[in-house]
Amino acid sequence: MRSPTLLSLNHTTRAGVVLAYLNGQFLPRSEATISVDDRGFVFGDGVYEVWRVVNGRLFELERHLERLVFGLGELRIPAPPLVDPDVFLSAATRLIAGSGLSDGEATVYVEITRGVSPRAHQFPAASVKPTVYATVNRLTPPEEARARGAAAITIPDIRWSRCDLKTLQLLPNVLAKQAAVEAGAMDALMVRDGIVTEGSHTNVFGVVDGALRTHPANNFILPGITRTVVLEIAHELGIPVAEQAFAERELSSLEELFLAGTTTDVMPIVRVNGKDIGDGKPGPVAKRLFDGLRGRLDAVGAGPVASLSTST
Ligand code: PDD
Repeated sequence: MRSPTLLSLNHTTRAGVVLAYLNGQFLPRSEATISVDDRGFVFGDGVYEVWRVVNGRLFELERHLERLVFGLGELRIPAPPLVDPDVFLSAATRLIAGSGLSDGEATVYVEITRGVSPRAHQFPAASVKPTVYATVNRLTPPEEARARGAAAITIPDIRWSRCDLKTLQLLPNVLAKQAAVEAGAMDALMVRDGIVTEGSHTNVFGVVDGALRTHPANNFILPGITRTVVLEIAHELGIPVAEQAFAERELSSLEELFLAGTTTDVMPIVRVNGKDIGDGKPGPVAKRLFDGLRGRLDAVGAGPVASLSTST
């Protein structure tokens, strides 16, 4: 059972009660409840999205919204009004400010399911409305691990072949991350047919002869927004890039290895399955890319609050 302290930490910040948005209403998250017949609960029938928030400003607002809308379309879940950029910005800003998280780092989480209907595999009647939920959480970026470099393990990628959709069905990712934690590592690199696809909630990059390598954005990985931003920064810095996957057996010859994700930023991986990558220390390419990403996050964090303009 979770302790009362943990529960209250989840639902309050020093500045106040954490708010949730549920089907058009704003309320304390501890009071937000959904039906046991919700298809997200019963089938994992839905999609989610996670935004980075710096000083109350959303990073890459539109790219995350576009990925969410793409996922809804692929699953044939009607897009609710919340996915309109203006509606979303106003709801997210209200959640952030109302939860006392307008300063520093946070994340906004959005989940949209196919709605509430008695359990039956096929889609419910068209009159069933999607369930729309959003909330905000404090984020503490893992700076100590970044300075030292983190460890990873490899694990078979047992997922389906639509990993490009950010669905609620995260059990393989949950099992992979748990295996990493139990091995004293930060994340698990998933391997499909000998090829490194991505981390449990991160994309993976390697450095070979000074050039970046990463899995192409196809159906076997989530096309991470941080991945896209890192590729843009690499182009700006003149770092050569090949969207070409690397094999598990190539790991030992990589000069550098790092993860990229909304809650991880750029995270150097210095050990995989107990073996050093490169010289076992965070490398210069990851450092330059992290600095570039941090610069973009800070620029958004210092910009106008109610703005649709992202870092680009
Ligand atoms: N996960 N790959 C997977 C499987 C992911 O779940 C994520 C993000 C990423 C990185 O995508 P992005 O850069 O857009 O965050 C890659 C989120 C953060 C999560 O599940 O919490």
